[in-house]
Amino acid sequence: MQLNSKVYQMGKDAILVVGAAGQIGSELVMALREKHGAKKVIASDIREAGVEVMKSGPFEILDILNKQQLEKTVEKYRISEVFQLAALLSATAEENPMFAWELNMNGLFHTLELAREKKIDKLFWPSSIAIFGATTPKENTPQTAVMEPQTVYGISKQAGERWCAWYHQKYGIDVRSLRYPGLISYKSLPGGGTTDYAVDIFHSALKDKAYACFLNADTTLPMMYMSDAVRATLELMETPAEQIKIRSSYNISGMSFNPSQIAREIQNHYPKFSIQYHPDFRQEIAAGWPQSINDTQARQDWGWKAQYDLPAMVADMFKNLSANK
Ligand code: NAD
Ligand code: SER
Repeated sequence: MQLNSKVYQMGKDAILVVGAAGQIGSELVMALREKHGAKKVIASDIREAGVEVMKSGPFEILDILNKQQLEKTVEKYRISEVFQLAALLSATAEENPMFAWELNMNGLFHTLELAREKKIDKLFWPSSIAIFGATTPKENTPQTAVMEPQTVYGISKQAGERWCAWYHQKYGIDVRSLRYPGLISYKSLPGGGTTDYAVDIFHSALKDKAYACFLNADTTLPMMYMSDAVRATLELMETPAEQIKIRSSYNISGMSFNPSQIAREIQNHYPKFSIQYHPDFRQEIAAGWPQSINDTQARQDWGWKAQYDLPAMVADMFKNLSANK
């Protein structure tokens, strides 16, 4: 019996990504498959993912709110590491607050409990710049600052961070996390966030040469290109445990810009592109978030450094979106 369980533990080296059909998941799965081999990376979601994820390796329909289903999947594939990405994002969460709380918290609890029960060894769970609020210093926001989030999403991420730190302190759980800024990508559309405008704008530029922005012209927010975000995630997860000093979540910085600045950069590629501003409820959400992030701690602890600034990101977005048309 003891021997069997030892053999079982030794053979456990597969990775499960929950929320694999989403904006981050669909790219993270491919990067993990490239690194560890397709068979070792099990993609899962409540809906089917895009063709690239579905065709390149194993996929399971999995509801993170169903702990038994999660446990069965972990056993079936001998999972040792989970990336738990399923959540409602800021704008959708504001419209469905009770369900957002249930999904964002219980999705995390189910995976933290798996780790406490020693059914997995390591967990990644993303936090967000939304943990900060109007009373946080807006510029160069430090790792540790006043945090009074004003959205359901921000409250859930802040509470999640405290639970991650508590599970680590109390049970030694190897849980790691990043406070992603707004993420910009060309492979899949974003899923209901306040920073989504910075992705939508590219599709509108190519289709209509015009964009109606739901944020004001001067709303500066921290952003990051997806390839940097995926690299940050892999680098954090590969860092030796003793170097990880922050078990709530790390600040990471990419770039900062506002709608008028990204529009100007787009005009460098498409001079006829125009933008109009029609702020809606998302303006108030964005107004409570930082404008730029201090990521000194991530740089010190595991050598983080972003590669993409605004011009490089815009050029790469157009290169890839045009190639995929
Ligand atoms: P997304 O909405 O694109 O993807 C989330 C995925 O989770 C979707 O494919 C959805 O079908 C799936 N999902 C929803 N409910 C589920 C359930 N019950 N069980 C299993 N899967 C379920 O979101 P994303 O942008 O990829 O974000 C992933 C994570 O990163 C989230 O936790 C989000 O809060 C965080 N994050 C994202 C950003 C960003 O800019 N995209 C920024 C900060 C933090
Ligand atoms: N990009 C996310 C959102 O806008 C921030 O976590 O919700």
